[in-house]
Amino acid sequence: MRALEAACEVDRYLGEAAMSHDELAARIRGMEALISVLTDQVDRAVLEAGTGLRIIANIAVGFNNIDLAAARERGIVVTNTPDVLTEASADFTWALILGITRRLGEGERLLRRGEWKGWALDFMLGTELRGKQLGIVGFGRIGRAVARRALAFGMRVACSSRTPREDAGAQAMPLDRLLATSDVVSLHVPLTPETRHLIDQPALARMKRSAYLINTARGPVVDEAALAWALRERLISGAALDVYEREPDVHPDLLKLENVLLAPHLASATVETRTAMADLAVRNVLAVLAGEPALTPVALPDS
Ligand code: DGY
Repeated sequence: MRALEAACEVDRYLGEAAMSHDELAARIRGMEALISVLTDQVDRAVLEAGTGLRIIANIAVGFNNIDLAAARERGIVVTNTPDVLTEASADFTWALILGITRRLGEGERLLRRGEWKGWALDFMLGTELRGKQLGIVGFGRIGRAVARRALAFGMRVACSSRTPREDAGAQAMPLDRLLATSDVVSLHVPLTPETRHLIDQPALARMKRSAYLINTARGPVVDEAALAWALRERLISGAALDVYEREPDVHPDLLKLENVLLAPHLASATVETRTAMADLAVRNVLAVLAGEPALTPVALPDS
């Protein structure tokens, strides 16, 4: 913030809730740079209001909240924050994998309700990971970091991705086969028109009944109503979610189920990582305003 204030005039939004679309469209007028977060809908209307904009620096690796095509038409640079959040996001994915397979959320809820009767041989048994297959959908930076950690848990890794690549000992395979053979399926794809509801009713029906689904990518990659159905019908064993179709709302049926672990979009939420993300966004803005290339520009569609 200090570096930014030393170099430019800053209009800082201090509201607790996300800024409304109308307020963003009003405040963008006359601005040369926007530092946005994923709750800011930077759509065509906002870009039309921001006639002086030269850069939008999104504090997130995902950028589905920004209309990239409209930004490109106006020659506005869009940047994101890759790399700096990879390790924190991969760690958190593993927290979810361990949490759901060992029934942590369910156990804590039971204990807080005062229903724990004490240790018993067959009480709240979970599933071990050793020797099982972790299927990673989307094998970019975060997917590969999740795969690297799988070795420590004795898991085999399968991956499916648009750009076929094998890394960290992962075996590439088509999505259908990955879904049908994996014991844990973890999603790491960006949200695009192609990945919206990638995990729908047929995809869930393809998974093993003993399998778990983990989503730390973007909520709309999973059809939440279909997931609630699959969990209720025990078509899969459980799910752990960090992201939702309509954040901050969670599908009401999911809230009623015990076999789902729900986190409030925390994968990159460490002091170190959020500081590095904000820093990178600031450095992108300073570079572009100084007439230099952005450090981490987002690849625009068809470019
Ligand atoms: C991202 O960077 O896209 C994350 O979802 C933010 O935590």
